[in-house]
Amino acid sequence: MALRTAFTELLQIEHPIVLAPMGGAAGGALAAAVSNGGGLGLIGAGRGDFEWIDREVALLAVGTDRPWGIGFQTWSTTEEAMKRALAYGPDVIMLSFGDPASVAPPVVASQCALMVQVVDLDEARRAADVGADVIVAQGSEAGGHGGTRATLPFVPAVADLVSPIPVLAAGGIADGRGLAAALSLGAAGALVGTRFQACIEAIVDPEVLKAIVEKGGEDTERSGLLDIARGVPWPARYTARTLRNEFLDHWRDRPDALRSDVAAQEEYRLAEDAGDMRVLPVWAGEAIDLITECLPAEDVVRSMAADAEATLRRILDEGRRGGHPLTRPPRR
Ligand SMILES: Cc1cc2nc3c(=O)[nH]c(=O)nc-3n(C[C@H](O)[C@H](O)[C@H](O)COP(=O)(O)O)c2cc1C
Repeated sequence: MALRTAFTELLQIEHPIVLAPMGGAAGGALAAAVSNGGGLGLIGAGRGDFEWIDREVALLAVGTDRPWGIGFQTWSTTEEAMKRALAYGPDVIMLSFGDPASVAPPVVASQCALMVQVVDLDEARRAADVGADVIVAQGSEAGGHGGTRATLPFVPAVADLVSPIPVLAAGGIADGRGLAAALSLGAAGALVGTRFQACIEAIVDPEVLKAIVEKGGEDTERSGLLDIARGVPWPARYTARTLRNEFLDHWRDRPDALRSDVAAQEEYRLAEDAGDMRVLPVWAGEAIDLITECLPAEDVVRSMAADAEATLRRILDEGRRGGHPLTRPPRR
């Protein structure tokens, strides 16, 4: 049994696993490796630096002949940027964080599939209204920016709301059990970030990689402080999950004080440029408990798909034998 879903059918790919378009970390080599593994690789264009995109798309083009895509942050992109991105010939363009209505039209009018990542039901409704082909329901367990809903109840709520549009689950999925859970919730696949950040093809600092492998989910937190310090005008409703660090410890609960302290912001930027791990934002999700080594991305895709299949099969087999506690009839 292969895990065929409405999403794998739409994109004609082998496994319902997508590389999250992690700004800066998901370049052409990582996206190509995920696509070669049978998933869908998305380059993380972030706020839309086309010099970077040019370079990474060129790398991707020599790395794979399978479907691939590019992801942008909606609040910082434009319709013009979408037209420019479409000229690369991606199979998918993904938009996250912000209202897609003003930038999506050229994508909707093209052959390229539109994926929209959403963090609440209002965003899910809007994504459906603009004509998204796939909607990604992101829970707050996710690494990087996002909202406040938890993956477990949010994914089925979005799936019910936008049916029959295929939904992918995102946030806290790092192995086959997570993918099996996503499918059980009514998702047609999973979009995975943090697990792929710890892959040999990712663009990631060795110190960051070491921290992801060594730390656990309880070492992460959501905050808007790092964006205030970096001076990046993210809409305030999207906070980011990162590893805790000394900078967050110092400014936690005092965002207004940080906003008005120009010297502290300058000090932060100098420390960040110097790669100081006491201040550097290590974007990472709660699923880092499950990440214990840096692996080739193709292996991650294949083992996640195989383990999800084995997990679903085991639950059914144990249920049939009456061995699984969840499938026994309740005692009266
Ligand atoms: C390092 C990192 C960078 C990210 N950058 C982006 C981004 O630029 N654009 C985007 O749409 N999502 C970004 N995300 C969020 C992902 O799209 C996705 O929702 C998230 O990684 C899923 O949760 P997980 O990290 O638990 O797998 C980023 C996530 C991480 C971990």
